[in-house]
Amino acid sequence: MFLGLDVGTGGTRVVLVDERGRVVASAAEEHAPFRSEYPGWAEQDPEDWWRAAKKAIGEVVASSGGAKIDAVGLTGQMHGAVMLDAAGNVLRPSLIWCDQRTDEECDWLHKEIGRERLIELVANPALPNFTLTKLLWVKKHQPEIFAKIAHVLCPKDYVRYRLTGTYAMDVQEASGTLLLDVANRRWSAEVARISGIPEAWLPQLFESPKVCAHISPEAAGLTGLTSGIPVVAGAGDQGAGAVGMGILAPGSVSATIGTSGVVFAATATPTRDPLGRLHTFCHAVPGRWHVMGVTQSAGLSLRWLRDTIAPDESYDALTALAAKVPAGSDGLLWTPYLLGERTPHLDSQARAAFVGLTAGHTRGHLVRAVLEGVAYSLKDTFTLFSELGIPVKGVRLGGGGARGPLWREIQASVYGYTTDILVAEEGGAFGAALLAGVGAGAWPDTEAACATAITIAQQIAPDPAAKERYAVGYQGYRKVYPALREIR
Ligand code: XUL
Repeated sequence: MFLGLDVGTGGTRVVLVDERGRVVASAAEEHAPFRSEYPGWAEQDPEDWWRAAKKAIGEVVASSGGAKIDAVGLTGQMHGAVMLDAAGNVLRPSLIWCDQRTDEECDWLHKEIGRERLIELVANPALPNFTLTKLLWVKKHQPEIFAKIAHVLCPKDYVRYRLTGTYAMDVQEASGTLLLDVANRRWSAEVARISGIPEAWLPQLFESPKVCAHISPEAAGLTGLTSGIPVVAGAGDQGAGAVGMGILAPGSVSATIGTSGVVFAATATPTRDPLGRLHTFCHAVPGRWHVMGVTQSAGLSLRWLRDTIAPDESYDALTALAAKVPAGSDGLLWTPYLLGERTPHLDSQARAAFVGLTAGHTRGHLVRAVLEGVAYSLKDTFTLFSELGIPVKGVRLGGGGARGPLWREIQASVYGYTTDILVAEEGGAFGAALLAGVGAGAWPDTEAACATAITIAQQIAPDPAAKERYAVGYQGYRKVYPALREIR
């Protein structure tokens, strides 16, 4: 059996997966909501992740009937900066992935290193999401804390430290720090030096399926795990999630709608976008890379709409109304920039909008326009893939956006690809468990793990008439952001 643990933003989830790739037990524990002292700030306490991890692991171990756990794999929210002193104590709450306070630090990096040179060195431009910019903020605003830093980790790597006493990180996660030489899968000495980050602070790097530590006797006592169980390096939630959906070979692509939306493609080489609109990271598969585009408010757009106009309605009732509205929502458009936008605009100040409202539009139109607008936003990443020559051979849908038939059909017709829906349990924890299985030798590699664990349940082809209508809608959608950019 293989245990996968996902340190998410809202909570920690643990799954136990058997040699046939079936989930046999799972548990989840919520985190305290993130603190946001000022608009755009987001901080969480690493001790809270460890509390949730102990509880969820304990529940899974207790419900597994004494089954032997052969390996543990970790995943989690990416980019968060966990700062520890020489004794391994947490120095301050972690600035997490969605914290947006570091625009000035991004500008400083682009001025000091040069935007193009930075993309050459670490494959990505500076964005407030990335770990290095958060360390630079602490350097400037809390120098007394910065002076005490001896170790820097990301969220799941902190939980690993508590489980094993080992400081380690995988190359997929490290790609999101802005300190990794992504092409060569090692820390970038040049970016670390220019930024004033001692390389000694950075943990040892591993490929995702590699065993890098073992459960300590102390953690065994606290969780119910057996001391000495191997722990693989794992990956950030996007990397592990891709493994859980079988997105391994160049040409395979997933479109996942959770709170945010991600279009993720596996690549054979580190394909950079010269304008930095896509993230270029090492994959959780050794010797491969991936690119991804991120829509900040995907599922969040629908949730915001429901909470705002129909808090007592279920999502099913609202999508039933939307299903009665024709494709294209009778000309109503939604741009989903409730939290600014990453791909393709890289604009933390972008704002959302309904455009084209008439007295004839109903609640169903608003809902349908949101579903379509989120799909248009993800299509922007497909458009970049074709600009950059990144192949798309097949598309798999995941997350909440793959659960209901309407959003699935909208996505297939907007993207213009036949899309697959999977039977398998998906998500980062499942992918992390598969990586653990590879590390433990149950499968020779991630391909073999996915061949055992993942089955396609359904294929959805684009509807020709809807595809044509959405092609027109998408042209209109592309005009909204530039037209509204000046209205702030
Ligand atoms: C990836 C990203 C999110 C976070 C939170 O770049 O920012 O996926 O990892 O889930």
